[in-house]
Amino acid sequence: FSIEKTSHSWQTPSNIALVKYWGKTDPQIPKNASISFTLNACHTNTKIDFVKKSTTDEVQFELFFEGKKKEDFKPKIAKFFERILIYCPYLQAYQLTIHSDNSFPHSSGIASSASGMAAIAMCLMSLEKELNPNLTEEQIHKKASFLARLGSGSASRSIEGPIVVWGEHPAIEGSSNLYGVRFPYAVHPVFEEYQDTILLVDKGEKQVSSTVGHDLMHQHPFATQRFVQANENLEKMSQILKSGDLTAFIHLVESEALTLHAMMLTSSPYFILMKPNTLEIINRVWAYRAATASSLCFTLDAGANVHLLYPKEEAETVVKFIKEELSVYCQKNQYICDYTGHGAKKI
Ligand code: PMV
Repeated sequence: FSIEKTSHSWQTPSNIALVKYWGKTDPQIPKNASISFTLNACHTNTKIDFVKKSTTDEVQFELFFEGKKKEDFKPKIAKFFERILIYCPYLQAYQLTIHSDNSFPHSSGIASSASGMAAIAMCLMSLEKELNPNLTEEQIHKKASFLARLGSGSASRSIEGPIVVWGEHPAIEGSSNLYGVRFPYAVHPVFEEYQDTILLVDKGEKQVSSTVGHDLMHQHPFATQRFVQANENLEKMSQILKSGDLTAFIHLVESEALTLHAMMLTSSPYFILMKPNTLEIINRVWAYRAATASSLCFTLDAGANVHLLYPKEEAETVVKFIKEELSVYCQKNQYICDYTGHGAKKI
């Protein structure tokens, strides 16, 4: 490998699923297709220094998170490198120093694995592009998403934007279980710069890691039905995104969020990841919608924080509502205003 020393930096966003991925088989093959909004403000910045080394054995790396050496994230990343080595054999020839930081508060309960793994994957692809200048941007994005998926399934949806599908689905041309693809159809203008305000209800460590959560779907009594439903919902969501039917959007997005949590409530062992304030917020969102003509709706990840989704034209009124009436349910009144973005950026 001709490059002795190089360095690459990428900024990659988090994403929020509209139709959720929950359940997989090895190696990170989803049990159903999922679709997400790529975010913007919630992102990871990662710089990787690559220095050629004399031995070619396992991948050697140091990890610095927010300026400090971080040993506890190392096993997950070591496992990731092990998995991808057959696709990136050149990694054996380099010593890597990874510097990473997130735009969102540390331990805010916002999953950083999607943005974090996507950022590493983009840095690796920049090295690969140096080694093989013939690679096209399309090939780079596809392989970055493929690699990111092997680190964290949802990370495959953080390379591009503003709407990404991961998982093979007959209604989505070009979709694959191996990487995410940009939603390939014209999207109704109401979804342009769709807003996502994340209410930080609980910053604690997750009670259930997504690895354990996905595993629980193997013996889950409702799993088969859930995977069928999610694929049906993906087709419905595809139609909604084209037509701009916000009433149908709200219904589907909220139902998906509650179904994800219903899977956790009914697994063995079972988990309640919502907190009392999660429910307070949901009820207030419903009351707000009943009292106004708003299209505000909520979605949830595998945690207590609430993502509030709404059209750009409602931004001013909804943020006022959040500030005045919902922020009291957030830890330290904290929330993050985000909106759909376009994926990885070279920095
Ligand atoms: O990417 P993972 O393995 O951390 O799984 C994340 C799954 C959810 O965030 C709960 C849903 C999704 O589709 O993003």
